[in-house]
Amino acid sequence: MSTITQVAAHQILDSRGSPTVEVHLALDNGMVVTAPAPSGASIGKHEAEEKRDHQMASYMGLSVQQAIASVNQILAPALVGKDPLAQGELDQLMIGLDATPNKSKLGANAIIATSIAIAKAGATVSNLPIYQYIAKLSNNPKPLLCPTPMFNIINGGLHGTGNLDIQEFMIVPAHRLAYSQALEIGDEVYLNLKEVLVKKALLTSVGDEGGFTPTLFTNASALDLIFEAAKAAGYNMGQDAFIALDVAADQLKHGDKYFLKDSSETYSAQALINFYQNLIAKYQVLSIEDPFAEDDWAAWHELKATIGSGALIVGDDLTVTNPQRVQQAIAEDAISALIVKPNQIGTISEALQVVDIARQAGLTIIVSHRSGETEDTFIADFAVGVGADYFKGGAPARGERVAKYNRFIEIEAQLATKTA
Ligand code: PGA
Ligand code: ZN
Repeated sequence: MSTITQVAAHQILDSRGSPTVEVHLALDNGMVVTAPAPSGASIGKHEAEEKRDHQMASYMGLSVQQAIASVNQILAPALVGKDPLAQGELDQLMIGLDATPNKSKLGANAIIATSIAIAKAGATVSNLPIYQYIAKLSNNPKPLLCPTPMFNIINGGLHGTGNLDIQEFMIVPAHRLAYSQALEIGDEVYLNLKEVLVKKALLTSVGDEGGFTPTLFTNASALDLIFEAAKAAGYNMGQDAFIALDVAADQLKHGDKYFLKDSSETYSAQALINFYQNLIAKYQVLSIEDPFAEDDWAAWHELKATIGSGALIVGDDLTVTNPQRVQQAIAEDAISALIVKPNQIGTISEALQVVDIARQAGLTIIVSHRSGETEDTFIADFAVGVGADYFKGGAPARGERVAKYNRFIEIEAQLATKTA
């Protein structure tokens, strides 16, 4: 048996320049693994709590020294001497040491970085690539495959300049394609989109996830631009590629109404359903994520009942990778797909439990990065290991996004030699 000999955290920066936790975990065989915590901007109310210091004199209040102290002073002494293969047991140990419902005592950022480090250590001592080790932990019965990427090529909402209300406008290559073909389609549409924007004298600066942030009159016109780019790249929308949206509608709700710049009138839940129906019909929309706010259950159900199998209804802020929230969404028939982000819940074991619940309910599984990322690629391995259908990783630009897309190229090549 291998044992953990040291666990130590320190503060590094993420892709927004915000401090985050990185954990170094050493084993008695001399190997060391590192794991950083990602971070969201549009954080669901029901997510596990990321601990920040809120001392304005240090990194504008964003430093994470308390979370680092949680790792060094509380988690490390409990984990040293333990077997890294005991993922479930060690995650439970950390949950017990925190003992709050939302991991607010030690911080979900402290716990997830440590949980990921344990998983990486488990892969190392098992002599397996991380994706294969995750597949074992997850009891994934399917042959391993890279998921279909969803490229967020126009950034609005909290990730953009504040001009577009919808947070993510994504291009999704057809599900039947091999990963490398899908990557080429997504990238060529992205490159052509830049040319389309330049020709129209629109901004080509990028947002938090690497997508462009043009100033436009309506959200729907962002979709017209993507259609133009896809055509210029030689692709047929609805055949070679589709649109996916993340509305992140919590940000659009004021009182019981929703605000979108596409109309001068406010939207009732029913008016928003009509708006979505029109978008689905006109723009080959494959999926709509967070179409309503995180507690607007009745509207979610109504949308799903109206749209049927016309498009995937995706829970993110609604479900927050939380087993209870996911079970509630299934019981209320509110979703047909869900986002899995391990840091929303705080341990790998609980994220795997969510995947299991989703798989049994026949939901489409979308594993996702966060808008605040590092160059770490664990999430790509996690997506392959659990057998995700899709992967959200931002645009094929900005180093921290490209790192994940490039990791899939490596995995695809490894899987091909296995089956050859
Ligand atoms: P976040 O956004 O990482 O800023 O929460 C991603 C999403 O909403 O899917
Ligand atoms: Zn989302």
